Amino acid sequence: MRTTGATARAQLRRAAAIIRRGGIVGFPTETVYGLGANALSADAVRGIFRAKGRPADNPLIVHVADERMLDDVAAAVPPTARLLLRRFWPGPLTILFERSPHIPEIVTAGLPTVAVRIPDHPVALALIREAGVPIAAPSANRSGRPSPTSAAHVREDFPKVMVLDGGPTRHGVESTVIDVRGARPMVLRLGAITLEQLRGVLPRITVAAGVAGAPSSPGQKYLHYSPSRPLFVFRRKETLLRYAKGLRRPVILCASGQKRHFKGYTTVDLGANADEIAHNLFAALRTKMRGDCLLVLAVQKKGKGRAVMDRLERAATKVL
Ligand code: TXA
Ligand code: MG
Repeated sequence: MRTTGATARAQLRRAAAIIRRGGIVGFPTETVYGLGANALSADAVRGIFRAKGRPADNPLIVHVADERMLDDVAAAVPPTARLLLRRFWPGPLTILFERSPHIPEIVTAGLPTVAVRIPDHPVALALIREAGVPIAAPSANRSGRPSPTSAAHVREDFPKVMVLDGGPTRHGVESTVIDVRGARPMVLRLGAITLEQLRGVLPRITVAAGVAGAPSSPGQKYLHYSPSRPLFVFRRKETLLRYAKGLRRPVILCASGQKRHFKGYTTVDLGANADEIAHNLFAALRTKMRGDCLLVLAVQKKGKGRAVMDRLERAATKVL
């Protein structure tokens, strides 16, 4: 249950004490829940990799509470990065910086860069401040599973970990990861800050091509977001319907306006627009509705729809 008032403050202090002792804690951010540990301790961060079953070559995002804390984890803050963080922080934009020597190598998987953001969530910010250290945190799911957008999702994957309950997360997809150090600013992972928003500040920013064998961001090469049964993504409603007819018991994830096309089938409502679909997507991938597979209709690749399609294409058994 979501906690308030005195209980919430006591839980926050307990969670911060766990972080300071080198343990791990689940906490809400405005995107998805994170599984956090002291970013300055290699041993603490090892605990995250172990709990998640995360490959050691996939680096973590470091969460800070203010720009002063950024200066402890980044060796340099170039002007373009400063411009973007002043515009989008606190918020779901993760920026790559040259790593400071305070950050253990395990956090960045040996890379010379560290990914940093200030989350826009009162509980996340209070936890970082109370712990007094930057917090390294991936999404709080077991490796390969859909990201958690509620405390219950975190408990499902990590029954023994303490979780601060902040209710369902606002955006529902993870932060956008960018690298603006070089001459060509790049989006390494599409996310809650849209490409359109970034282009409003940096017109030349492009989405890095995840070339096979040379993914732009280490995390992009792994199996991701997989539900516990096959997921098929369809570009056209007609193809989905034809496919569904041949199946015993499909569960169809669809936008509110499309439900009328799927009468007689079990459906999960994703919401009315790209923002709502992003908000509901990961919970829908974890649905407990009975059925042998999940079918979902593609959304338009604009605004948050780009991040939605990125996650769906990675989670899919097949795109048809
Ligand atoms: O919204 C979010 O970003 C959430 C919340 C908890 O902040 N976190 C999150 O973390 O999604 P994770 O670990 O699930 O995804 C981090 C992504 C991965 O694709 C990783 O490879 C990339 O960021 N990344 C981290 N450090 C990097 C670096 N130094 N260079 C390139 N990519 C990096
Ligand atoms: Mg993740």
